[in-house]
Amino acid sequence: MNSDSDLQIAGDILEVPHLLQPAREHPVTVAEFAGLARGIAADRSQWAHLVQYDAATRWYHRLRTGPGYEVWLLSWVPGQGSGSHDHGRSSGVLTVLQGELTERTERAARTLGSGAQRVFAPGYVHEVVNDSLEPAVSLHVYYPGLTEMPMHTARCEARAPHDPVTA
Ligand SMILES: [Fe+2]
Repeated sequence: MNSDSDLQIAGDILEVPHLLQPAREHPVTVAEFAGLARGIAADRSQWAHLVQYDAATRWYHRLRTGPGYEVWLLSWVPGQGSGSHDHGRSSGVLTVLQGELTERTERAARTLGSGAQRVFAPGYVHEVVNDSLEPAVSLHVYYPGLTEMPMHTARCEARAPHDPVTA
């Protein structure tokens, strides 16, 4: 911030919409894709009635498409997981809509509760699993749309920093 500047914004900028750029119909930036996912997450009428749970295979449904992007709804019964994978040339935003998921990478394991978001770039490798005792639902935005999901044979097993590394 430039402390020499006399420029100040008086009042709430959101109350002067004529000064703001018009909202884009489709997201373009990472923040806009994350915002799209948050908007869908907050409005259960857009997705809750569509969710199905399938104990045999992970259930998924393409919720929306736009120029260059796709939005997928996934459900996870306890114990279901993705296996270690990347997303080809796609970037993505993962948002937990309901329940709890665990994301594992080579470096870390994270518990993602309802509302949690992860943004990833092409080449990012992770494994997502429902380690909880309740079903979970997640939303996945891919840009460009997911055309491949290469599986990685080595499992993502993050270790605590002082754990001995075993072969
Ligand atoms: Fe993924």
